[in-house]
Amino acid sequence: MLEEKTTRSFAIGAAAGLTAGLAANAVRKIFVQAPTMMAGEWDAALAAEHQATLAIFDQIEKTEDKHKTRRSILLTQLKHALAKHAIEEENAVYAALRTHGQVAEADHLNNDHGYVKQYLFELSAMATDHPQFLPKVADFRTMIEQHMREEEEKIFPKLRGLLSDEENADLTKAMNQEGLKIA
Ligand SMILES: [Fe+2]
Ligand SMILES: [Fe+2]
Repeated sequence: MLEEKTTRSFAIGAAAGLTAGLAANAVRKIFVQAPTMMAGEWDAALAAEHQATLAIFDQIEKTEDKHKTRRSILLTQLKHALAKHAIEEENAVYAALRTHGQVAEADHLNNDHGYVKQYLFELSAMATDHPQFLPKVADFRTMIEQHMREEEEKIFPKLRGLLSDEENADLTKAMNQEGLKIA
């Protein structure tokens, strides 16, 4: 009887712990997504993420070969920021581009994302004190800045113009939903 009671209270305790854990995780996710949500509509929010990503590049470029731990922490941050950003764009914005006739543009941007992942893969495989680490980071930055400029100056403004106010608002919502999955 006592054993049964103990088992039951343990199960209730575990369930409460799980619920609290899930709630804490939901709060953490909202916290991670908050800067993007507060940056405004989808295109402004993605531009803010571009700036935050470039700030991580700045930090990496300030390191020296001896700062191995710092480089690996910053590389992890860069990977997380870019994984979330890619899901937001590919699952919402690039899909909206195709729906509105911008198929070649969406496919081109999606192709670039493949090379972003390639750079991250190659940097992860490299010793963080390798003399080619910073030159590879610099090549990566040149490539990703070009991609960001194309999005911000050409392709995203065009999509914004093709969508109604309501569709733009829906896209902002969809983009944040995608971000919360990864946050
Ligand atoms: Fe992109
Ligand atoms: Fe982007």
